[in-house]
Amino acid sequence: MSGSKENVVVGFDPDGRMELIHVGEQPGHGAAVDFRRVTLRGISSQPLVRACGERGRLLDTTAGLGGDSWILAAAGFSVTAIERSSLVCQVLRDGVDRAKSDSRLNAIASRIEVRQENAVDVLQANSDSWATIYLDPMYPPKLGSALAPKPIRVVRDAVGDDLDSSNLFLAAVAAQWNRIVVKRPHHAEPLCAEPDIVFNSKLVRYDVYVREGSSLRSIRAKAKSS
Ligand SMILES: C[S@@+](CC[C@H](N)C(=O)[O-])C[C@H]1O[C@@H](n2cnc3c(N)ncnc32)[C@H](O)[C@@H]1O
Repeated sequence: MSGSKENVVVGFDPDGRMELIHVGEQPGHGAAVDFRRVTLRGISSQPLVRACGERGRLLDTTAGLGGDSWILAAAGFSVTAIERSSLVCQVLRDGVDRAKSDSRLNAIASRIEVRQENAVDVLQANSDSWATIYLDPMYPPKLGSALAPKPIRVVRDAVGDDLDSSNLFLAAVAAQWNRIVVKRPHHAEPLCAEPDIVFNSKLVRYDVYVREGSSLRSIRAKAKSS
């Protein structure tokens, strides 16, 4: 166990994988990271991958349990995966490390660097430039909607809602990038500005801001002058 928040701790499942689990639950009933289960067929046509554009260095500012980072690394991006929660980050790192020692997954896993940090600090350091900056902040569930899947519920109980996601977006806008991609539920407003392009999938949409686009011009000008 390594600390807890809202009754969530890090434990080990019967197969020795770290898992994020509610206090009192049987080992094996939490959320572990196991990339062997991810289907990669048709990956390049997935809306997430199309939204993220040309392959290059991608900053995943909200890595969580790494589902999106994994798909993007499998599609050929070189991913820096930032997660600020120490509980979530431990479980993510455990999954990526196990993938690195699996000969079938090693090539993808080696394209992911996991860092436990606040992505706002990483962006404000401004020491790197990114082909794509990706944001998937936790969003409050829609009232009356179906219960979220287990991994999402346990991560939500560990980290809460990301109520500071506008700050993260503004820090991204002020950094060096070719495009910013924000994952949103269909019912949610865009974060801070209307996107230049939208990619829809069944459950979510991806709001895309391109460097040469018009949506962020005024926000960027303000960010530069402040
Ligand atoms: C909705 S989850 C991300 C899910 C992830 N895209 C996936 O595929 O598993 C949001 C995560 O972003 C993290 N997060 C939010 N704001 C952050 C920030 N400023 N820096 C680093 N991590 C952040 C939260 O702790 C949470 O684990």
